[in-house]
Amino acid sequence: MRIRPVVFYCLLILISPGHSWGWPWTTDMFFQPSHKAQEDKALEIPHGTTSTRGRPILIEDRAQSDEVRNPISLNKESLERGKWLYTTYCAVCHGEKGVGDGVVGKKYVPPTDLTSEYVQKKSEGNIYYAITYGGLAIMPYYRDSILPEDRWHIVNYIKYGLGK
Ligand code: HEC
Repeated sequence: MRIRPVVFYCLLILISPGHSWGWPWTTDMFFQPSHKAQEDKALEIPHGTTSTRGRPILIEDRAQSDEVRNPISLNKESLERGKWLYTTYCAVCHGEKGVGDGVVGKKYVPPTDLTSEYVQKKSEGNIYYAITYGGLAIMPYYRDSILPEDRWHIVNYIKYGLGK
């Protein structure tokens, strides 16, 4: 009887455990720049990552948000970043132009028109609050997915870029 080469090699692997079980465990995941148990100093958190412990809550309620100052200067870079973030996170409901006609917005509870006087007259802190804690009814919050700095860029874009 002639044994085909593939069957022969399968049999060889089965009868010689040294071949199939003799390889060492891979350790490359262990030897990487991460914090090991018993080490005293934690690694620096890279810029742009979100802390798993969250940020301290700075604004107690919506009314208080009017007093919160926008720390991000209004300039071309901020408006460009704000536009990019707005298009990524908000346009799906509020629409590219902010009037509430995004693809999801059309099938959802009608999103507030962000170009309306109602929103445009809001303080910057109040819009920041809506992004951080959600809308008045069902709009989701973004405090765990958009960094505080980036939320202010979106505020700048809504107030000074959207529809202008
Ligand atoms: C899933 C759909 C959806 C997404 C995504 C969404 N919104 Fe909204 N938004 C709504 C709806 C619906 C309302 C009106 C009901 C409410 O206030 O909860 C609203 C209301 C608002 C208001 C008015 C709140 C007020 O004080 O009356 C602001 C400002 C706002 N959204 C900004 C944003 C920004 C900025 C983003 C992106 C970071 C965003 N929204 C993403 C659905 C959405």
